[in-house]
Amino acid sequence: MKRLRWLVLSQCAVAALASWQLLFAGQANFDKLGDEDRKTFAARFEKEIWPLMTRDGKKGCVGCHSGKIVAALKLTGDMKKDFQFLLKEGFFLQDDDGNLVARVSAKDTSRRMPKGGERWAEKDIQMLRKFIADIDSKQKK
Ligand code: HEC
Repeated sequence: MKRLRWLVLSQCAVAALASWQLLFAGQANFDKLGDEDRKTFAARFEKEIWPLMTRDGKKGCVGCHSGKIVAALKLTGDMKKDFQFLLKEGFFLQDDDGNLVARVSAKDTSRRMPKGGERWAEKDIQMLRKFIADIDSKQKK
């Protein structure tokens, strides 16, 4: 009986830890930019990256990711909101294999975005790569 009680208790502890981690993950904030830099990058995002992400309607990044799909990347079509979301949730994190440029340039076609679509032109991938590298250089560490 005592053993059972321990088992129950330890399972509760595991569950509590798991929900704590979930809570914590929901509050992750990878936005470590200063206010001025954030403004500058938002303007650059609008000019350089947003047109690439919004092209091709439902077959494009924003078109599909604002629809009914199951993915951690949830976009709305509102440029400012989406930029903030991408920044905060770590989709611009350098050296992260889940960042935007990693998914766009992935060799594995089941991971490569746009899903089911054509690979981005090299110059577009380079532009996104540079954008992510420049953000990284301004993030406070
Ligand atoms: C036709 C629908 C569709 C299009 C177009 C599309 N995606 Fe996705 N994307 C998905 C789905 C479904 C997933 C979740 C499954 C997976 O991870 O492969 C996903 C996952 C992702 C993830 C990983 C999110 C996570 O869970 O961490 C990123 C990043 C991403 N997409 C970026 C993009 C970018 C950038 C584009 C445009 C170049 C794009 N997607 C275009 C459907 C799409």
